Amino acid sequence: VTARRSTSRGYPPFVIDGKAVSNDRLDRARDEAGELAKKGIVPGLATVLVGENPASRVYVAAKSRAAKACGFHSEQFELSSEIQESELLALILRLNEDPLIHGILVQLPLPPAINPTKIMASIAPHKDVDGFHPINVWLAASGDMSRALLPCTPAGAMILIDKACVELETHLSGKSAVIIGRSSIVGRPMANLLLARDCTVTIAHSKSRNLPDIVRGAAVIVAAVGQPEMVRGDWIAPGAIVIDVGINRLPATGQNRGEGSESRLVGDVDFATASLVAGAITPVPGGVGPMTIAMLMTNTLIAACRANSVAEPMM
Ligand SMILES: NC(=O)c1ccc[n+]([C@@H]2O[C@H](COP(=O)([O-])OP(=O)(O)OC[C@H]3O[C@@H](n4cnc5c(N)ncnc54)[C@H](OP(=O)(O)O)[C@@H]3O)[C@@H](O)[C@H]2O)c1
Repeated sequence: VTARRSTSRGYPPFVIDGKAVSNDRLDRARDEAGELAKKGIVPGLATVLVGENPASRVYVAAKSRAAKACGFHSEQFELSSEIQESELLALILRLNEDPLIHGILVQLPLPPAINPTKIMASIAPHKDVDGFHPINVWLAASGDMSRALLPCTPAGAMILIDKACVELETHLSGKSAVIIGRSSIVGRPMANLLLARDCTVTIAHSKSRNLPDIVRGAAVIVAAVGQPEMVRGDWIAPGAIVIDVGINRLPATGQNRGEGSESRLVGDVDFATASLVAGAITPVPGGVGPMTIAMLMTNTLIAACRANSVAEPMM
C-alpha cells in the first residue's frame, strides 16, 4: 500500500490507498475462483439495471467487467424504466432458482413506481450480494457477521480501517468511533461493523447538535454524508483514522480548468486540512470508492462457496 511509517501520529498521515487494496482483493478473488473451477464451481453474478440512470449504467458495467475479470460467470439484465414491479419480481424469482447464479445485484435507485424494499426482500438471502435483504440486515445488526452477506461499501471501509490499524500499530477494541450519516446502505451497517469490533459507536446525522465536538472525541471517523468537504481538520483529533465515503462532483476550478476536465470529485472530508492532523486518511477518489466492487466480488465468491458447501476463502 505504502511504506510502513513510524507509530508517531500526525503529519504526514498514512494515506490509505483503496485502489491498491481493491486490486489486491480482486486478484485474490480471481485466484480463489481458479481454485473453485478445479472443483467444477464457477461463481455467477447477475446484475439488473432498471431504467436509464447514466451513473447506474456506469456502476453496473464496472461490476460486470470486474466479475468477468475475476473469472466469474456474469449475466446482465437491462429493463425499461416503464417495467411493472411484478415483471422485476418475476425476473428475481427466476434468478433465485438459477443454479448458475450465486449473487443477484439490483442496482439502486429504482424508478419511483417500484418499491425497493419489496425488491430487496424478494432476493434469496443467500444470493443477496448487496447485503440489503432483511435477513442479512438482521444478522449484521445481531453481530452475526460470519453468516451474513455484508453491504459492500461499509465492508470495504472496514477493511481500510483494518489497514490503518496495522499501519498505526493500534487496534479497534474500546476505541470511540463516530459515523456521520445514518443511511441504511452506509451509516447504519457501518455502525454494526464497528460495534462488532468492540468500538464505542456514535451515529451522527443532520439533526445532531455540536457535530464538530462529537467528531473531535473520536479515534475513528467515518464520513458518509454527501456534503462536499464538510469535515474539516479542526474537527479531528490528532492521529484519528478518517474514512471518507463521500463522493461529490463539483465544477472544476483553478488548475483543473482548461485540462478538458469539466468537474472534479471531492469527499465529505476536507482532505487538505484533515490530512494535517489525521493519523490515517482515505483520499477521494481512490479510497473507499474502489472497495465497493472488490467487496461485491468477495460476496459473490462467498455465496458460491456457501451454495456448494465449500469452505469460504479467508480474504
Ligand atoms: N461506493 C462508494 O464509495 C459509495 C457508496 C454509497 C454512497 N457513497 C457516498 O457516500 C455519501 C453518503 O451516501 P448515503 O447513500 O449514505 O447518503 P444519504 O442516504 O443521503 O445519507 C446521508 C446522511 O448524512 C446525513 N447528513 C446530511 N447532511 C448532514 C449534515 N449537514 N450534518 C450531519 N449529517 C448530515 C443525513 O442525515 P439525516 O438522516 O438526518 O437526513 C443522512 O443520514 C454520498 O456522498 C454518496 O455518494 C459512496
